[in-house]
Amino acid sequence: MRPFLKWAGGKYRLVSRIRARLPAGERLIEPFVGSAAVWLNTAYPMALLADANPDLIGCYQQLQRHGEAFIAACRAYFVPDNNRPERYYALRERFNAVRDPWERAVLFVYLNRHGYNGLCRYNAAGAFNVPFGRYRRPYFPEAEMRAFWRKAQGVTFRCADFREVLAEARPGDVVYCDPPYVPLSATANFTDYSAGGFGPQDQADLADWAERLAARGIPVLISNHATPFTEEAYHSAQVERFGVQRFISCDGDHRGVADEVLALFEGHGR
Ligand SMILES: C[S@@+](CC[C@H](N)C(=O)[O-])C[C@H]1O[C@@H](n2cnc3c(N)ncnc32)[C@H](O)[C@@H]1O
Repeated sequence: MRPFLKWAGGKYRLVSRIRARLPAGERLIEPFVGSAAVWLNTAYPMALLADANPDLIGCYQQLQRHGEAFIAACRAYFVPDNNRPERYYALRERFNAVRDPWERAVLFVYLNRHGYNGLCRYNAAGAFNVPFGRYRRPYFPEAEMRAFWRKAQGVTFRCADFREVLAEARPGDVVYCDPPYVPLSATANFTDYSAGGFGPQDQADLADWAERLAARGIPVLISNHATPFTEEAYHSAQVERFGVQRFISCDGDHRGVADEVLALFEGHGR
């Protein structure tokens, strides 16, 4: 099942690999749910889906609650007249001004499919600032929204920091964490990166949480870039590396360096 929102770092393309590593359980917890690609393509009896982005969670809650009426309201914005820069910027301004959860959620779907690359970025004042996307004919993800809505009945959506969500995990839960990526390049300034909201301390806290939950018998799977930082942070997990080789230096030092890791923290509590 495809997600209806485009989302940076979305895991749709990796879903079968992730599913193969996820243990069985009664409830799936995703503290960094993004486009929800993993939840959409697994079948846990219950789910707690959370993210720190209030617009994302607000959109899911409106769809969950209002189903077809919400889909119809979104569809009304996918008309040729709304696919030009003047209209896009007017609707973006409206989105930034409006507080009504329904209208904000409807506009969020419009912006996601008409903005540049499906990005979701805000300026320092918290205003959505993605430029117009210049798509010939933006796709309205009607079937994907309907499938999401059907599956979402009984699911809990929460806007919260991951630490708050993980504090609720209990035996029987399975946790999949897809945090914002650790920067790939060794020269990237990881301190600057935290200006984007998620820095080395957050990454380290997440690994600590995973260890502690695993010790209580709650398995935690984390996906991330394969870097020296994640190698160290995930040393107590079973780590699978995969992906495209990026560097092959002449001395062969970097041969076998993979793009991504899946780290499974699984204790012996069960
Ligand atoms: C890589 S994306 C997740 C992509 C998702 N797995 C998918 O398939 O679309 C990372 C997500 O973490 C969220 N996020 C960033 N900081 C967070 C925090 N401190 N707590 C919870 N979520 C956070 C972002 O809003 C973003 O949706």
